[in-house]
Amino acid sequence: MGKITIAIDGYSSTGKSTIAKRLASTLNYIYVDTGAMYRAVTLFALQQGIISERGEVDEATLIDKLSEVHLKFVPNKETGKSDMFLNDVNVEKEIRSMKVSRQVSKVSAIKDVREKLVKIQQEMGKDKGIVMDGRDIGTVVFPEAELKLFMTASPDKRAARRYKELLEKGEEVTYPEVLKNVEERDRIDSTRTISPLTRAKDAIEFDNSDMGLEEQFERIHEFAKRVI
Ligand code: C5P
Repeated sequence: MGKITIAIDGYSSTGKSTIAKRLASTLNYIYVDTGAMYRAVTLFALQQGIISERGEVDEATLIDKLSEVHLKFVPNKETGKSDMFLNDVNVEKEIRSMKVSRQVSKVSAIKDVREKLVKIQQEMGKDKGIVMDGRDIGTVVFPEAELKLFMTASPDKRAARRYKELLEKGEEVTYPEVLKNVEERDRIDSTRTISPLTRAKDAIEFDNSDMGLEEQFERIHEFAKRVI
């Protein structure tokens, strides 16, 4: 088989992007972090005052202004990763903040937002040779993907990873706050009406609660080699 499509879905902070990135670089595939796209739309809404202080999203205004949202992934030579650009501004750091994390699941439950982003994602993957991670990749974006993974891990393990990551980035957060956010996002993401987070029937469930990075990568690389 030639180039394939690899869809990696799962709960928040299961380490999807770390594995997806490494897999893409090993296979010489494109890597797309779809969470970054939903986060960038959320940042746009915050910048425009479309989300109130109390966290209410003015859906009609956001839908109206969606055509003003231009997203781009730009390779960063220093980090070897891609940075998310929102309307030609590098927002890679800002989109990872708790301020965005607190609102993103509400924004990503909006039908028009999903339609716009799914279309872009399908276009990026039309020639295959892509590893995409998110919540609905194996179910909605690429239901025909040759390899689908569904990553899980216990909420406390996930929150601990995320907490460490945020501290390393210099964010002032507490562990209980991060755990609450991870659980809240999972709840909203799994119960929304449109494209809820759910395991595709043909996805391999992968619980990495007690697995180091190296072991995870080796196992997942093995799955990929069997299909390619
Ligand atoms: O992957 P990450 O945790 O950065 O995603 C942030 C949020 O974006 C998720 O909690 C979810 O609400 C939304 N998302 C989504 N569909 C995707 C990717 C992310 O709804 N394919």
